Amino acid sequence: AGDDDGYRTAYHFRPANNWQNDPNGPMYYKGVYHLFYQYNPYRATWGNGNLSWGHSVSVDLINWSALDNALDPDSPSDANGCWSGSATFLPDGTPVFLYTGIDASNNQVQNVAFPKNASDPLLREWVKPSYNPVIALPEDVVHDQFRDPSTAWIGRDGLWRVAVSAGFKDGTGSTLVYRSKDFRSWERNAEPLYKSGSAGMVECPDLFPVAEPGAENGLDYASSNGAGLHVLKQSVMVTLSDYYALGRYDDAEDTFTPVEASGNDCRDWHRFDYGHVYASKSFYDAGKKRRVLWSWANESDPEPDYIARGWAGVQTVPRKIWLDSQGKQLLQWPIEEIESLRKTRVGLLGAEVNAGGMNEIIGVAGTQADVEVVFEIPALDGAENLDPNQLLDPQRLCGEKGASVPGGVGPFGLLVLASSDLQEHTSVFFRVFRHNGKYKVLMCTDLRRSTKRADVYKPPYGGFVDIDIEKERSISLRTLIDHSVVESYGGGGRTVITARVYPEHAETSNNRLLMFNNGTGMVKVSKLDAWELKAADVNVPGDGIITI
Ligand code: FRU
Repeated sequence: AGDDDGYRTAYHFRPANNWQNDPNGPMYYKGVYHLFYQYNPYRATWGNGNLSWGHSVSVDLINWSALDNALDPDSPSDANGCWSGSATFLPDGTPVFLYTGIDASNNQVQNVAFPKNASDPLLREWVKPSYNPVIALPEDVVHDQFRDPSTAWIGRDGLWRVAVSAGFKDGTGSTLVYRSKDFRSWERNAEPLYKSGSAGMVECPDLFPVAEPGAENGLDYASSNGAGLHVLKQSVMVTLSDYYALGRYDDAEDTFTPVEASGNDCRDWHRFDYGHVYASKSFYDAGKKRRVLWSWANESDPEPDYIARGWAGVQTVPRKIWLDSQGKQLLQWPIEEIESLRKTRVGLLGAEVNAGGMNEIIGVAGTQADVEVVFEIPALDGAENLDPNQLLDPQRLCGEKGASVPGGVGPFGLLVLASSDLQEHTSVFFRVFRHNGKYKVLMCTDLRRSTKRADVYKPPYGGFVDIDIEKERSISLRTLIDHSVVESYGGGGRTVITARVYPEHAETSNNRLLMFNNGTGMVKVSKLDAWELKAADVNVPGDGIITI
């Protein structure tokens, strides 16, 4: 335990100590980035009853200074906790929070809070008006299933809208829309934005527009003014995973229709991340005109262990998100600012990794690293055939066909956080299959050998990469390693897998980084860049507040 535990991250966002879960109210205001987050100021567990909004500020989304909590449970409408919510800019530029309060009777209600002094770019103090709550618990909604207001947006009729998660008493999980003239009195729209009987309660809705296919700039408000697509994201309690659909948002009816007819169960939608993340939330960064996504990556070792370490939960590296050039899915990429942490670089050009081969990447301390590799696949004919009748479950396939199970084209990829005897390692890799006459590219992060500890959750994670491998003949992998986090971007951000790992050898700082190929065919590494990363200043106690 203590500052020197081997699992403490060096550049992922976390408070210095105690518990953190969802990102809340991210925004860019007067040159400063703000991140608020679900925070238990007393200990490293979630702690029903006393959640606050922690608050940190940054000018680069990488180095952060901690400020006092923005919201604490100290009013009748949030006496038992200040739960998740979002920030919205009013027409005069003032930010306002909509957030869930657990009120004195333990009902979930929606509250507002305003900056005490909007001319302070650090927005240190927040004021809760006495007229809270602004949205009371509806009759037909379960008392503890009404929460997580989204960023609000204005329709062409001039009315505000906000999306709120609601579990109906009949068991339906839904996302309701409320409308308001003045941000104070809100009226429920009869038609929900989303509704499903099968997926159960959904949380933390996020609705935002995307620019045209391939355009990397972000857009601010939801609006059906124009033909643009929107994204609706849901966090699903039963799977603890986030799912999103691309669709049409109608700002007259306030309905959302996914473009793919994958039905109403959002578990059939796309995943932002096939690993261990939840409760993501995006914001429009007006500084760099991009949309940025935050998501929470919880611990996955036993509670007594993280209580002993004194901290729990990180946020993934902020990711830029945009629509791919075919308009089929979102692409995600670590914000460019992360590159400011790069120091020692190791490069390789044109290496070949033969069947059964391993190449060590020497000269980079493998506990804090950023690795980018491009694998070229000279021949695809060796690809393994998958039974055409088989229902394809990528996670199960990663479990059956792990890094050490020889294949045709792949498995090839990286071994990270490997011990000197390689007994402990996390493998991040691709494998190409043929299925019904088409090539399918599988991406896996396999944690089963990541630690010798038996009490840790260490599954294989997997997702398919939507890439035409026959045409492209190469696939890229970028992996960010940060002590207990392995965050990997396959195919230029088409498929992302974030994992929390707890190697036993972490304390020895003996971490090897290797490339491997267990396919029968050779793969060519047309490019490899590996950087050791500096530690960022993330909420370092006693550190000064940023100056701007
Ligand atoms: C999601 C969530 C939200 C809630 C918050 C409480 O992780 O359960 O629905 O507002 O966490 O901390």
